[in-house]
Amino acid sequence: MKDLKGIVLGILAGLPALVVVFAFGLYFFGCRTNNTCTGIALPVTTPIPTLIPATLPAPKVGAAAVAAVPKCRVAAADLVAAWIDAGYPETDPFPFTDVKGQTCTATFKADVQRLFLEANLWYDGAPACTTCHNADIANNQKNMDLSSYAGILAGSNRVGEKAQKGDDILGGGDSQKALLYLMLYAPGGQTTINRPAMPLGRPASVPDKGPIISAGTPPEQAQ
Ligand code: HEC
Repeated sequence: MKDLKGIVLGILAGLPALVVVFAFGLYFFGCRTNNTCTGIALPVTTPIPTLIPATLPAPKVGAAAVAAVPKCRVAAADLVAAWIDAGYPETDPFPFTDVKGQTCTATFKADVQRLFLEANLWYDGAPACTTCHNADIANNQKNMDLSSYAGILAGSNRVGEKAQKGDDILGGGDSQKALLYLMLYAPGGQTTINRPAMPLGRPASVPDKGPIISAGTPPEQAQ
């Protein structure tokens, strides 16, 4: 009985002491020692994002919307042939017939040049033409520069006195005589002139006239 009384008294005396310690803790951690009760700083960011980042591209308007209009579809080598047959213009648009049979227009800069500059275009893993035929004509394959309009016009085998103007690869404006087309037209992986199909190393599985690419402008969009 005496023990129980002692325990009860102990608890009664202990409780106020606990309250004092608790209040002091609140004061100390909430107001620190400079007595400005700004409270414990809360983290500024919430663990759950309240603004989910947008992943869809913003809709295009004006000129950008026009640029997003679907292009024509054409086999890569057919586009090269059309450009050659139109007299290989540098900046003027030229006509070509797309896979649907409609007459579209393209330009060298926007549509043809990338066929020579881009890797993985003719097939997955394809080197760019300019890997082997670039401005370093003295040291590259066939001493030919396909990296620029002027380089393509200057042709191949540009060595010695032919450095400025080598052999014509544009068939004088006739695609069926142009090496630039004949090296790209490879039915069953074989060119019709008994030379390796370009890009060099091109597998036989690549379509005769290369991949179907998006290029040019459909007739209804042409100005
Ligand atoms: C990996 C190197 C390499 C790549 C890439 C390459 N070529 Fe060639 N190219 C050659 C070689 C080698 C020859 C000579 C082939 C032969 O023995 O007839 C050649 C020859 C040519 C010729 C004939 C030039 C002439 O006057 O005889 C043309 C045109 C040509 N390439 C165009 C291209 C085009 C277009 C591409 C890209 C679609 C391309 N090449 C990619 C190595 C390459």
